[in-house]
Amino acid sequence: MSRPLAVICLAAGLGKRTKVSTPKVLLPVCGRTLVASALAAVVPLQPQRTVVVLHHQKDLVQKSLQASLGDSLRDVRYVDQGTPKGTGHAVQVAMQALGDFRGDVLVVYGDCPLVTTETLRELCALRDDAPCAVLTACPENPTGLGRILRDADGNFVGIREERDCSEEERAIDEINAGFYCFDSEALRPALQGLRPDNAQGEYYLTDAVASFAAAGLPVPTLETGDPTEIQGVNSLADLAMARQILQERILYEHLLNGVLIVDPATTWIDHGVAIGRDTRILPCTVIGTGCVIGQNCEVGPFAHLRAGTVLEDGAEIGNFVEAKKTVMGAGAKAKHLTYLGDTTVGARANIGAGTITANYDGVHKHPTVIGERCFVGSGSVLVAPTELGAHSMTGAGAIVTRGTKVGAGEVWVGVPAKKLKQRELPTGGHGAKDKA
Ligand code: UD1
Ligand code: CA
Repeated sequence: MSRPLAVICLAAGLGKRTKVSTPKVLLPVCGRTLVASALAAVVPLQPQRTVVVLHHQKDLVQKSLQASLGDSLRDVRYVDQGTPKGTGHAVQVAMQALGDFRGDVLVVYGDCPLVTTETLRELCALRDDAPCAVLTACPENPTGLGRILRDADGNFVGIREERDCSEEERAIDEINAGFYCFDSEALRPALQGLRPDNAQGEYYLTDAVASFAAAGLPVPTLETGDPTEIQGVNSLADLAMARQILQERILYEHLLNGVLIVDPATTWIDHGVAIGRDTRILPCTVIGTGCVIGQNCEVGPFAHLRAGTVLEDGAEIGNFVEAKKTVMGAGAKAKHLTYLGDTTVGARANIGAGTITANYDGVHKHPTVIGERCFVGSGSVLVAPTELGAHSMTGAGAIVTRGTKVGAGEVWVGVPAKKLKQRELPTGGHGAKDKA
């Protein structure tokens, strides 16, 4: 992009319609918060500066956002709007925080997680020499949204908030999405002119946009082809709908990449999950953000992979298996009724049905290491920290107590588990590949 870009993200609103104590913009969609999801759309545009306008539970929101953004955006500034007095007031505060920035100023909302990078890119390109470009949409239900006013030639004239609309204006189906790209040098004086003379007594950013048209300047508009993109989240019902739309997008992308998702309707995969080709995801599977799954793996049905889990090529996780911060080596399998937490499983190991790693002692989490080609007997409990050497084996129902190191090739059985014998090391594989 040729012009310098700054982003303003408005997120000071209270969100009382959600009726929950979590700040609205911190509600989760597909593994990240609403506001992180909204800002993810601007990351590829590489803005020089970003200002996030906050107020309610500011510290909580800022901390969460800093953690989830990492260093994906440079020069992020957080400002407290004070008592929110409208979108125009929020942008006034943000412009002060932007300092001497000159260029495109893209305004997005912290509660609109569905907007795409492509749409925002198009909006910025459309501004060209105009003081402002406005994103519009024609949703099925425009209730509550500002209507786009046009003159007889179809030129943009202004935006009327629904509660300030006449009967006639309310019938207009084109609405203001709330996303704008401004010329910083036109925006500053326009903000100075805002007055709170409307039904809500607020400073409306929309009045700044209208002031350009009133001065005879062009205000180009971009209508989104997909009105769901601009849907804001005001209630938990909206949140559920937004989640579904984002979920479909994520699944679609994996499908295009050669991941066989048997039943998209019952598969939950967060954003930020890498999955290799020829991997099969069976129904009713939940995969959390940050998981990495190789090629030719199988996951599910009814499996739960949580953050930090890695499946190397050909690994298999079956029904009623939960894995958290667990690495499954190539070809390793845990096919039934198992919990693996903070565990490293070596290549071709076989985790028998009902195996549990007891990784939590009530205070701390401890690691479990299971070596290559281990054979863990059904119903084993491995109390962490524990180490099973390569090719070792536990008998069915073994309780391997805390701190135990089972040597390579050893067979341990019983409660508490004790060494029974040394295993004959196989030459060609002990069948971890064929047994389950
Ligand atoms: C605004 C637009 C409306 C548009 C709609 C699209 C104005 C005056 N109206 O409606 O034309 O159709 O968005 O969703 O701009 N916020 C702040 N500080 C404030 C007020 C709002 O940070 O003082 C934030 C909110 O947290 C939210 C966003 O700005 O993320 C939009 O606020 P909201 O009250 O939902 O929008 P409206 O003003 O109703
Ligand atoms: Ca409002």
